[in-house]
Amino acid sequence: MSIRRLPPELINRIAAGEVVERPASALKELVENSLDAGATQVAVRLHAGGLELIELVDDGCGMNADEMRLALERHATSKLPSDAIDQVTSFGFRGEALPSIASVSRLTLESRVRGADGWRIAIDHGELAGEEPAALPPGTRIRVEGLFDKVPARRKFLRSPRAEYAACLDAVKRLAMARSDVAFTLDHDGRRILTLQPAAPPVRVAELLTHDLDRHGIGIDCTRDGLRLTGVISLPTFNRGVADQQYLFVNSRPVKDRLLVGALRAAYRDLIARDRHPIAALFVEVPLDEVDVNVHPAKTEVRFRDPAAVRGLIVGGLRHVLDEESQRSAAREQAAAPVMWTSSASYDSNLVRDPRERGGPAVPEGGGIPAFAGMTGVAEDQRLFDHAPAGRAEPAAEPVPSYPLGVARGQVAATYIVAEAEDGLVIVDQHAAHERLVLESMRAARQGGAVARQALLIPEVVELDEPDCDRLEGAAAELAEMGLELERFGPAAMLVRTVPAALGKTDPGGLLLDLAGEIAELGGPLSLRDKLDRVAATIACHGSVRAGRVLSVAEMNALLREMEVTPRSGQCNHGRPTWVKLGHADIERLFGRK
Ligand SMILES: Nc1ncnc2c1ncn2[C@@H]1O[C@H](COP(=O)(O)OP(=O)(O)O)[C@@H](O)[C@H]1O
Ligand SMILES: [Mg+2]
Repeated sequence: MSIRRLPPELINRIAAGEVVERPASALKELVENSLDAGATQVAVRLHAGGLELIELVDDGCGMNADEMRLALERHATSKLPSDAIDQVTSFGFRGEALPSIASVSRLTLESRVRGADGWRIAIDHGELAGEEPAALPPGTRIRVEGLFDKVPARRKFLRSPRAEYAACLDAVKRLAMARSDVAFTLDHDGRRILTLQPAAPPVRVAELLTHDLDRHGIGIDCTRDGLRLTGVISLPTFNRGVADQQYLFVNSRPVKDRLLVGALRAAYRDLIARDRHPIAALFVEVPLDEVDVNVHPAKTEVRFRDPAAVRGLIVGGLRHVLDEESQRSAAREQAAAPVMWTSSASYDSNLVRDPRERGGPAVPEGGGIPAFAGMTGVAEDQRLFDHAPAGRAEPAAEPVPSYPLGVARGQVAATYIVAEAEDGLVIVDQHAAHERLVLESMRAARQGGAVARQALLIPEVVELDEPDCDRLEGAAAELAEMGLELERFGPAAMLVRTVPAALGKTDPGGLLLDLAGEIAELGGPLSLRDKLDRVAATIACHGSVRAGRVLSVAEMNALLREMEVTPRSGQCNHGRPTWVKLGHADIERLFGRK
């Protein structure tokens, strides 16, 4: 067996397979180079998703002719002056991108250092195709044409120009979010797609993701143990069906890390349905020696020395702001409505912390939920508006006490509480609201010790699949902690001895079935705490006042008061808003008085 050194050409092509898998990765490398060169403006032009042309113009420091030749050589870089690979602050440092791209395309590099003349070098699939003086403003211009045209093996894996374009757009967006101080433009097939002026990070993020983040986003800025977290996340009620708008930046570098997905899940647990996803752009700053950026050729992954600390920073930081903003919720779009119904999103959510401060009736001591226990849940599948209006308004006490959610005036369709507040009309979804209250009270009780339980006079036997019984049996200790005491009763049945008192009368069969499903799904690496919260949410949903339950005025008021003092009461456990408000001005507008 004879061993030979690979020719540089082949080495470059092998590297190209790792660094530039597709147009978007080439584009990413080029934009990173511009940013490393101190550009304040980056202009990108693409044709056919970058397959035909990627062109990039920057106003960075530029290169002279010698530097340009060197830049096209493998492992030539200006970015590791002290060889300290663990102290990298630039995007690049491996000196691989330019030679790799040049080996699989026709590449023209033009550059000019301020105060000097410009130069042009053309490379055709790794071979020098010409050099000459060039006229251009200070900075660098790179054209990459026919990427992978002569590499059929790679070409086969490329997707349609549309899909490649989408990936390019995403790459530009990530870098534009990472560096909001730099101006960007992006053109595709002759059409201007992006024009971004330098802006503060949250403004840039909103520009790139959705402008609604202005209203429905929460800003974050916290530090812990030398780590800093800043960024924007969406309110739980402002969520998406796919997790495509979740971005993580580590020391300004866009990275893809599974840690983010898990941390977001944990932070939004029980605030959002499992199949819905928040929007997030999070910027983590860690000391350079806490993170290794040299673990992936494209540098899109990093390795934290202490991933748990980073996860803790994100989960803790997000949870904190989510709790603080918990009574806000994003109004759902009211397309047909002549006025905007607002929920807490546009309402300064300075809800009263304790109604007693305003001389109102005290809520039950210990933050317990109002006396709903014993209510029978009405099957929710009945048609909602079958009910006659239950307009049992209280005589208008004057003046309306200043409760943020007002005083109950009646109930519509046995589902919605209508209340009068000082500043408008409030409608509350009783099931959504009560579900949240039950969950929060269970959570508070669990933190304070044991959850109140209620023994069943006659233990109930629930028949289930054997695997479901196994799951419930395996979780029996945790469930008991929440007031649900179960025992195995033969191969395919469970015996229910107690239920959480907050549940009132409930159907243990449905609850156990849901819990078993929940536990099956949670099998993964969730912490016990996360698990208990999720299980508590499922229990809470079962224990809540169903839509269709007629409430007395006292019960409605108790629910409103309780919402005002309960954290996270702006949304139910599935991320839907629990209440909406129509302001006086809006009511007047409805009647043409304004
Ligand atoms: N747009 C640019 N402006 C100025 N210099 C550049 C530009 N692009 C590349 N360079 C120079 O070329 C070198 C090689 O680039 P590259 O192959 O991407 O490797 P790396 O970025 O890892 O150093 C860089 O270190 C830099 O000195
Ligand atoms: Mg580079």
